[in-house]
Amino acid sequence: MKATLITGASSGIGEAFARRLAAEGHNLVLVARSENKLRELCDELKNKHNVTCHFVAVDLTEFEADKQLFEETEKNDIEVDWLINNAGFGSMGDFAKLELDRELQMIDLNISALVALTHRYLAKMRERKSGTILNVSSAAGFQPIPFMATYAATKSFVTSFSEAIAEENRPFGIQVLALCPGSTETNFHAAAKMDRALNVKGQETVEDVVETAMKVVGSGRTKVVSGWTNWVVATATNFVPNSLITRAMGKGLRGRFQKE
Ligand SMILES: NC(=O)c1ccc[n+]([C@@H]2O[C@H](COP(=O)([O-])OP(=O)(O)OC[C@H]3O[C@@H](n4cnc5c(N)ncnc54)[C@H](OP(=O)(O)O)[C@@H]3O)[C@@H](O)[C@H]2O)c1
Repeated sequence: MKATLITGASSGIGEAFARRLAAEGHNLVLVARSENKLRELCDELKNKHNVTCHFVAVDLTEFEADKQLFEETEKNDIEVDWLINNAGFGSMGDFAKLELDRELQMIDLNISALVALTHRYLAKMRERKSGTILNVSSAAGFQPIPFMATYAATKSFVTSFSEAIAEENRPFGIQVLALCPGSTETNFHAAAKMDRALNVKGQETVEDVVETAMKVVGSGRTKVVSGWTNWVVATATNFVPNSLITRAMGKGLRGRFQKE
């Protein structure tokens, strides 16, 4: 059975992808840690849209979680033809004072789990010569961001990695897309312990972000920024040296995170 696997499907952008794709007839495999939320969402989508929905409650930062998830889909004869690597979190603050374990966990989730799942399911897609991989990156990845250093760097990795493997896999009928949302209304800012969103006024809804991705899937594009303002800012970073960007952003945020 063909299915779309979505990580981080228990809330926010991942949940919105699940709702949209179920409505379009995709069978689903939903992944996150919150078992009850996944069960409820699966039950709702199965009843509403007559699709199949599996869920796997797993912490993707745990050792070999990607292997466990892959083996689970193999055991159930699920052919993952769309993979949406969406699970991720951020942090904000003076890097030297942030909790090291949390920063490393972020790298485990935002980068290592994404790379591992991409590698495992890509092998199967290559055999079938078809597949779609959608990696949820961020507009934060277009430049280094002081006081959000690890998060911005993880998303820079995700965009760069996605664009590179998109080209490698183009001859095999596999599309890889980096989706780069800007500030979006989800639990993300609370989970990152950001006392307020960086760009509260311009926040997009999760449906806006999913719509951006769905418009581009199948077009051959390898990267898309969600939201016109976010696109303008992301594009402008190509013309301004990082040293100027970091100095300006550092100046704006230093007062909040490096009080004497
Ligand atoms: N919101 C924004 O402003 C924004 C902007 C740009 C990019 N993004 C990106 O969008 C993606 C989705 O975030 P969101 O905004 O929708 O935030 P969210 O509502 O907090 O969703 C994060 C999802 O990831 C899951 N998750 C977190 N840690 C996990 C772990 N260790 N193992 C497995 N699943 C885990 C969460 O579920 P459980 O807690 O149940 O595990 C949840 O389903 C992230 O990659 C984020 O970086 C967000």
